[in-house]
Amino acid sequence: MTITTRQQAPLGSGAGAFLADFHSMSTFGATAGGGVDRQAGTAEDGQTRNWFRGLAEGHGFEVRYDAVGNQFALLELVPGAPYIAMGSHLDSQPLGGRFDGAYGVLAAVHAAIRLQQRLAAGGSAPQFNVAVVNWFNEEGCRFKPSMMGSAVFTGKLSAEHVLETVDPRGTSVREALESIGTIGDFSLDLAAYLEIHIEQGRSLEDAGLTIGLVESTWGANKYEFTVHGEQAHTGATIIADRHDALLGASALVVAAREIADGFSTEEHAVITSCGEFTVYPNSPVVVASRVELLVDLRSTDAEVLAAADAELHRRIAAIQQSAAVRIEQGAQHVWGAKAYDKAGMSLAAECAADLGLSYGTVRTLAGHDSTNLKDLVPTIMLFVPSVEGISHNEKELTSDDDMLAGVDLLTELLGRVVEGAFVAVP
Ligand code: GLV
Ligand code: MN
Ligand code: MN
Repeated sequence: MTITTRQQAPLGSGAGAFLADFHSMSTFGATAGGGVDRQAGTAEDGQTRNWFRGLAEGHGFEVRYDAVGNQFALLELVPGAPYIAMGSHLDSQPLGGRFDGAYGVLAAVHAAIRLQQRLAAGGSAPQFNVAVVNWFNEEGCRFKPSMMGSAVFTGKLSAEHVLETVDPRGTSVREALESIGTIGDFSLDLAAYLEIHIEQGRSLEDAGLTIGLVESTWGANKYEFTVHGEQAHTGATIIADRHDALLGASALVVAAREIADGFSTEEHAVITSCGEFTVYPNSPVVVASRVELLVDLRSTDAEVLAAADAELHRRIAAIQQSAAVRIEQGAQHVWGAKAYDKAGMSLAAECAADLGLSYGTVRTLAGHDSTNLKDLVPTIMLFVPSVEGISHNEKELTSDDDMLAGVDLLTELLGRVVEGAFVAVP
C-alpha cells in the first residue's frame, strides 16, 4: 500500500442531511441485530428503491429503470451530452450490514445534489450529465450470479437470461421485478463511472487512512457444484455400499481451505470459501442423495489463481473416487485480476490531497459493480474504512466522519469529472 497522510477535512455542508438520509434508508428491511435484510427484488428492496426514487425526484432528478431493474436517477445538465454515472447497490445479503452498497448510492446522490447546488450558485460549465445508479442484485444471494444488473449493462450477461433466472423457490427475476414495479426500457449513454464503497477489509483502518484509491480487483473463480450420491438408511447401509453426497461435499469444502493454505505466497494470497451448502433430503436417518454448494477461489495473481483452480479440479477427481460420488460442475462466475484507470486514481488522489484527506492505494478482494463497469468505460473506485473489516454482517460499521469524508471526496471528484478532467466529450 502507498500511504499519503494528511489531516482530515472539516465536515462539509450537507453533513446533517446525509446522516439523516442514511438513518432513514437504514430503516428499510432493518433487522433486530442492527443490520438490514433486503435481498434483490424482495418487498424490502422495493421499499428502499421507492424511498431512493422519492429522494432523487425531490431534488429534481428523473428516475428511470432499464430492462433488468437497474435504477437511474438522472440529472440533466447539458441536454444531449453523455452521462457520468456514479453508483452502487441498495440490495443486501440476508442479515447484511447497513453500509455495503447503500452507502455508495447515497453518497453518490448527495454528491450530485451538492454539485447541482454549486452549479446553481454559479460554478463552472459542466460538459456532461450526471446519473446516480442503483444496480440491481449486486449481492447475488437470492438470484445468482452477483453483480447481475451491471453485468447486463456491460454486455456480460443477456437481459433475457437474467430475467429467466429463478431463486430457490422458483420465482424469476422478471416476476420479482414486476412485483416491485421497477422494470423499464431505459438505456444510458455512459462516458465514465465512479463508485464509492466501504472497504469490507481492514487495510485502511490498520494504516490509519480515510480513503482507499482502488488500483485493481482480485481475480475470482466461483463455481456451483452438485455432488450426486445415493439416498440410503444411515444405520442399515454398510459403509462399503454408501454413496454419501454429504461426505463428498464436505471433502470439497475442506479441500478448498487446504488449497488457500497451500497456494498462498508472501506476495500473492489465495482466499477460498464455500458460502452456500444445501443438503438433500437433509433428514436425520438418511444418507444424503445430493448436495449443492458454491466454491469461491480468489487471488491477486492470475497465475496463482489458475494453479489453485487446477488443484481444485484435481482434488474433485480424487474426491469422486474416495467418497464414491459424482461431482457435477454447474454455472460459473469468473472475473480477472484487473487494474482500474491510472489517470482516474491520480485525479482522485489530487482531490483527496486538496481536501486534506489521508489516502492510500488498495486492491479490492470483493466484487463490485465497478468490477464490471471498468471493462466498459473509464472507472474510478474509492473506499472508506470498515471498522475491523467486518462485512456481510449486521455489525458492519463505518464511522460518520469517514462516510462524510467520502461524500466530500466524491463531490469534489464529480465536479472535476463533469468539467472534463477525466474523460473528454466525444
Ligand atoms: C461480490 O459479488 C463478491 O463475490 O465479492
Ligand atoms: Mn457491495
Ligand atoms: Mn456485499
